[in-house]
Amino acid sequence: MKKLEEIEIELNSLHNRARELLRQWELEANQPYISWAQQLRADNIKECNLFISREELLSALPENSIGAEVGVAQGEFSLRIMEIVHPRMLHLIDSEQISNMRIRPYIDSQNIKIHRGDSGTVLSKFENNYFDWVYIDADHTLEGVKRDIVAAKDKLVDGGLLIFNDYTCWSPLEYLRYGVMQAVNEFIIDEGWRVVHFALHPLGYHDIAIRKPDKASVAGNLGVPKSGS
Ligand SMILES: C[S@@+](CC[C@H](N)C(=O)[O-])C[C@H]1O[C@@H](n2cnc3c(N)ncnc32)[C@H](O)[C@@H]1O
Repeated sequence: MKKLEEIEIELNSLHNRARELLRQWELEANQPYISWAQQLRADNIKECNLFISREELLSALPENSIGAEVGVAQGEFSLRIMEIVHPRMLHLIDSEQISNMRIRPYIDSQNIKIHRGDSGTVLSKFENNYFDWVYIDADHTLEGVKRDIVAAKDKLVDGGLLIFNDYTCWSPLEYLRYGVMQAVNEFIIDEGWRVVHFALHPLGYHDIAIRKPDKASVAGNLGVPKSGS
């Protein structure tokens, strides 16, 4: 087995080579390799609750709700959702087959429905204003996250939540760019959604939950009388 010191020497030289390559590319392309997410404003986060983990964040989701997990892998987190949130219905969406036998009882009792296919295509088949929350954890590229946001936002009830796993611009375990933070911040700023929950992760794969504006509160903010008043 190689010693850690030897591995670190090799890694350092690989990192130096990678940095050289990227610096050259950035000069030619005249753009940074890792795009910075836009900075949020203080009012975007003023209602935000902070949690120590994404499981803790789950405990803030409404019981008996209708939710979706977009990007499921083998369904381990789906099981945590079932145990903690007790949703009325959880839709699991993944382009690959989900073969976790522990999900079977929930399928039999009609609390879980599995949808195999591309997230955008599957989400487009639900009626608008259907989900109380949608947990997005599928394609982590900027384009992929933007596609999932567009596909999911109208499917949420007013006041519903879009929750994103891996809210970061860099995956330290994969040495890979993620577009989650950039896509989410852009959306928050453009569409005026509020950050309501944030869950920490020890390696920086944080979760963030943003709330769809309530039509009544938007009307209130605009000075438009709420219906019935
Ligand atoms: C990071 S894993 C999900 C992990 C899971 N949410 C958890 O917390 O354990 C990402 C999953 O997204 C799926 N995926 C990636 N792009 C997708 C797309 N465009 N449509 C549907 N599923 C996709 C992959 O097949 C993979 O299973």
